[in-house]
Amino acid sequence: MCGIVAYIGPRDAAPILLEGLARLEYRGYDSAGIAVAAKGSAGLKVRKQKGRVADLAASVPARFKGGTGIGHTRWATHGEPSDANSHPHLDGAERFAVVHNGIIENADELRAKLQSEGVVFRSETDTEVLAHLVAAHAVDGAELEDAVRAALKRVVGTYGIAVLDAERPDRIVVARNGSPIVLGIGEKEMFAASDVAALVRYTRQVVHLDDGELATVRADGFSTFTQDARITAKEPSTVDWEEAEYDTAGHAHFLIKEITEQPAAVERTLSGRIDERFATAHLGGLNMDAREARAFRRVKILGCGSAYYAGEMGAQLVEELARIPAHAEPASEFRYRNPVIEADTLYIAVSQSGETYDTLAAVQEVKRKGGRVLGVVNTVGSAIARECDGGVYLHAGPEISVASTKAFVSTVVAFALIALHLGRVHDLSPADGARIAAGLKALPGQIREVLEQEKEIAALAAKYARHEGMMFVGRVRGWPVAREGAQKLKEISYVHAEAYPASELKHGPLALISPELPTVAIVPDDELLEKNLTTMGEIRARRGQVLMVGHTRPEAKFTEDVILVPRNEPELDPILLTVPLQLLAYHAAVALERDVDKPRNLAKSVTVE
Ligand code: F6R
Repeated sequence: MCGIVAYIGPRDAAPILLEGLARLEYRGYDSAGIAVAAKGSAGLKVRKQKGRVADLAASVPARFKGGTGIGHTRWATHGEPSDANSHPHLDGAERFAVVHNGIIENADELRAKLQSEGVVFRSETDTEVLAHLVAAHAVDGAELEDAVRAALKRVVGTYGIAVLDAERPDRIVVARNGSPIVLGIGEKEMFAASDVAALVRYTRQVVHLDDGELATVRADGFSTFTQDARITAKEPSTVDWEEAEYDTAGHAHFLIKEITEQPAAVERTLSGRIDERFATAHLGGLNMDAREARAFRRVKILGCGSAYYAGEMGAQLVEELARIPAHAEPASEFRYRNPVIEADTLYIAVSQSGETYDTLAAVQEVKRKGGRVLGVVNTVGSAIARECDGGVYLHAGPEISVASTKAFVSTVVAFALIALHLGRVHDLSPADGARIAAGLKALPGQIREVLEQEKEIAALAAKYARHEGMMFVGRVRGWPVAREGAQKLKEISYVHAEAYPASELKHGPLALISPELPTVAIVPDDELLEKNLTTMGEIRARRGQVLMVGHTRPEAKFTEDVILVPRNEPELDPILLTVPLQLLAYHAAVALERDVDKPRNLAKSVTVE
């Protein structure tokens, strides 16, 4: 979604804000802006416009001096991308500047009220309401903190905000409710942002705000408090992600860098978690002993988009290894259907960012009804991680490209560890436990082998990207692989992609098959091989082209093209089958000259409904 950055200290704020915004641009990229205030000089300096951060940086004049400032990169929700709708938004007297992530649900009502009081609006955004509300409450010498608190009391919705006051450039006030805000502690300077990505260049010491919390940030420190002005105590934590991880490191795009990083990401997910002696997985973060783990009769996995598809692979692993009924469901649907929460069901929320609003709300719904939720999360200290009762961190490193790749694969590996652990407290034999543990350890090397085929896969991508659409099919273990393959292709190349269980083809979608609609068939060498070959034969009989991803090359009559991946244990094969589909999508997007890391209409972490 949108990104927020704020700076206060002895340096000029503008270059630091622009640098921070560039780091956050993956969160939203339709417009950007900054506002700067200087001690002793009247008024705010504001520059905001539709377009990328680089365009904004080129247009900020050298006279933008001042050591206090806020910035924003936007992903439009209310009002189309335009200069006027870009943040920061100002009150009528241009004393206050506000940047905001989230959605103010009662914005229309508040706007009408403010207009009836004579306020003139300059944009269509919900955020502008906040700027006018702060101004309305900044009367009779009220402190900025009090004006912001009073304004927020009138607001229904979600927000992460930063507020700048031209008359008090010694501070910035930030607040969080459903949209992240993290403070960065420097040497006689302070930072705030919606994501540590904007901060790691300057500091590793951070403080995450909780929902309902506000902070006053000054050059020499910060204080945090609640909506009712009660002071809260916060302990700084250290970010373990390196600044270099936010760089493309010589790769053409973050996406290919992140695909290439997968062997190392998986090694980190596995690190210290395989217990050879008992042929199980050691996962201290689950916060449950063997007796508690045995007590669960069902597992329900919740996530959105690719996180949900990774959860589908996770459910498959849990059922296969632990023989516990397991099911994945889109978190965005779950929370609206008044779900039955059972005490003997283990809920697991999946999220790379740890900030996806729908997933967070699903976790809160489960907890409200007394259920136990674990998190499989990449971002340490994120809202979902903090809301859960325990879980597994991926340690995949920051994922910048909008399309998820290394976090996806690390998530499935984390589920394999969870399934191994649950399996071994149930009926998985030591021999099968050791077999899975060995398979997991082989994964990084085998992923490297798949990555070595990049050139050949790029050639196939160029061939197939010419088509307007593609079908992806798989059976059972191959089905979530097909779904994720179609998701990756459509989101970054804009080639229409549909995924179907191969077994369902005859019940409708076979009507679509023609020379114009090629099919990617996921065909591991498992007990369903023959059935998959039959499906491929049926597609070929309708003159459909087939690109097979699997373990052995079948007779030429079944397929035009084949991508072979190394064989692991059947339960773990979906992980390796996914990797060539990431390369296929990436190279299709490159061939079609798409904006690979920032696909149209999308944003990295979706912190609104
Ligand atoms: C697709 C993609 C999205 C995310 C989804 C959930 O490549 O990245 O579908 O998987 O928005 O995001 P997280 O995992 O941050 O909750």
